[in-house]
Amino acid sequence: MRHLIEPTDLTREEIEQIVALGEDIIANRAKYSEACKGKKLATLFYEPSTRTRLSFTSAMMELGGNVLGFSSASSSSVTKGETVADTVRVISCFADIIAMRHFKEGAPLVASQYATIPVINAGDGSHAHPTQTLTDLLTIKREKGRLDNLTIGFCGDLKFGRTVHSLIKALARYENVKVILISPEELRLPDYMLQEMQENSKLSFREVRTMEEVMPELDVLYMTRVQKERFLDDDEFERVKNSFVLDPGKLLTAKKDMIILHPLPRVNEITREVDSDPRAAYFRQVENGKFVRMALILTLLKWAEEQKAEGAAPRYAEEYEVNGHECHNHSCISRTEDVDQLFRREKDGSFRCAYCETKAR
Ligand code: NCD
Repeated sequence: MRHLIEPTDLTREEIEQIVALGEDIIANRAKYSEACKGKKLATLFYEPSTRTRLSFTSAMMELGGNVLGFSSASSSSVTKGETVADTVRVISCFADIIAMRHFKEGAPLVASQYATIPVINAGDGSHAHPTQTLTDLLTIKREKGRLDNLTIGFCGDLKFGRTVHSLIKALARYENVKVILISPEELRLPDYMLQEMQENSKLSFREVRTMEEVMPELDVLYMTRVQKERFLDDDEFERVKNSFVLDPGKLLTAKKDMIILHPLPRVNEITREVDSDPRAAYFRQVENGKFVRMALILTLLKWAEEQKAEGAAPRYAEEYEVNGHECHNHSCISRTEDVDQLFRREKDGSFRCAYCETKAR
């Protein structure tokens, strides 16, 4: 069974197929209005969401399908102590495809090990958010006409910002992409991501402390919110919360055709005056999210049909191993639920947790 847990679950060709299908849906909406007739999407959201959940809901409705689910952990059986594994076994009897958001990193991977229907990760802790990545890629493709040969600046909370992690992983599959990381020291990209980027020969990257010094170079400026809910220390949040604010003055040196993206919600990192600048693409980005989710649902349901015939093996079996290590990341699902402690062996002989990608000590 194919799932979408991380952007790397898709090849570059598959990403392009989904983006192209999204573009076709935009051009021919009526053609798809009954494409999922009789199918059900379950939205299992254990963490707050406005855009992503309603985007999935609206995507399935536009495909002529139905939607069921819950929008907070408190309204699900998790309050009675039910595990993710049991919940998805149950939901597999009620629906054809699952979109799951969870505050624990790796929860959707656990779900994919037990569900008998495709699972889509709609955001897990500060780990990954692959459907936002597809949204970002479709937006860049539509606005810039290409996904290769780009200089993209990521600004803000690169530590906890899961949308940043996933988009960088996907961009690593493209040619001549330059990534510029703009963050305070405290909010730098996690070590595992920096290591991955160092090992990837295609992607070039550098770290800077201000957006002003790189603004003229950028084709895309990807702004992010400081993720208040993920800080363990309130003082640290207070210190960094106003690190970067994009205003019209800072855009004076930017290219005329640069685009500004933001996964939203925004707090104060982009001033309201920027909204009327034609380069502000973040509200167009939201709409693209619905179309690309329509494309993804169609693609995963088609693959599920094809694989039913083939009887494919679960993906984790061949990629990961149980080796006596335990994950030390307090936000990892393997710390709170009784799951196999799975690790992936790295090229340098070290091990990384399968659920949250943190290095084993
Ligand atoms: C993002 C998320 O949930 O990670 N929002 C979204 O899905 N569009 C970004 C954020 O919460 O800051």
